[in-house]
Amino acid sequence: MTFRQNHLLGIEHLHPDEIVSLLDLSDSYVDLNRRDHKHTDKLTGLTQINMFFENSTRTQASFELAGKRLGADVMNMAMQASSIKKGETLIDTAMTLNAMHPDLLVVRHPHSGAVNLLAEKVNCAVLNAGDGRHEHPTQALLDALTIRRAKGRLHRLSIAICGDIAHSRVARSNILLLGKMENRIRLIGPPTLMPSEVSELGVEVFDSMQDGLADVDVVMMLRLQRERMDGGFIPSEREYYHRYGLDAEKLRHARDDAIVMHPGPMNRGVEIDGTLADDINRSVIQEQVEMGVAVRMAAMELLCRNRGLIPGDAP
Ligand code: NCD
Repeated sequence: MTFRQNHLLGIEHLHPDEIVSLLDLSDSYVDLNRRDHKHTDKLTGLTQINMFFENSTRTQASFELAGKRLGADVMNMAMQASSIKKGETLIDTAMTLNAMHPDLLVVRHPHSGAVNLLAEKVNCAVLNAGDGRHEHPTQALLDALTIRRAKGRLHRLSIAICGDIAHSRVARSNILLLGKMENRIRLIGPPTLMPSEVSELGVEVFDSMQDGLADVDVVMMLRLQRERMDGGFIPSEREYYHRYGLDAEKLRHARDDAIVMHPGPMNRGVEIDGTLADDINRSVIQEQVEMGVAVRMAAMELLCRNRGLIPGDAP
């Protein structure tokens, strides 16, 4: 059995073989999701609870659809209206839900490490849907699937991750995953938006798009995470766009067949030119969203198998 996890908390502890198994299963879910009838009964009778303590559009919708297409009973907790607002701690809320016997708990939380802590307290499989600036494993997996399908492989590629690296769990999980699969990773952004531990990440660092994008296969853009900034990290959005915003002109430095990615939500005219984001010959942003549902279906199926909730071994 290649996929051995009981939770999906991060990319950090995944073995390359586990990543490949999960992506292979995801491919079959991409096919299912393109059919008129998208339903399976793999998780019939199982209960999935989504707890999002931070705003989310695509990740929450994607996890909800993924669970429904697998036949699970899916509940979205409206965390804004929950007892957290009355002072209940995260762990107390989780323990209350745990007592209702969910099988899968999908959690997004603004504090790095909160989801790992919660996983220690509950009896079910926990999936991290993003914790602070720590990890966002399903995003990195859906990015990997998108890259593998567009480029035909997931190794020995040159990949640029650009913008607000310091505050981005998407960047962190992608650096871990793409590094494990033996790709060359370049980080591009102003020094103020580079993480302090950048020299330990096994990546090349650039503060110029022209130099950093030279001959890359993949360009991954990131949003400025203003909600995690507590000071002046950039001079102005205009200046930032001028230096680091991706447009057709800057993209010319990359390979002719380089693909453009963005996890969303996108700020057009801040980190990316709107026309380029919509250019179906270069941008795979919509494919990323499509792959997200498939990857989450695969992850939930594998976790349920490993916990003996559904018959059969994980691949
Ligand atoms: C990202 C997130 O929440 O970390 N969005 C997402 O999940 N697609 C990136 C972001 O918020 O900029």
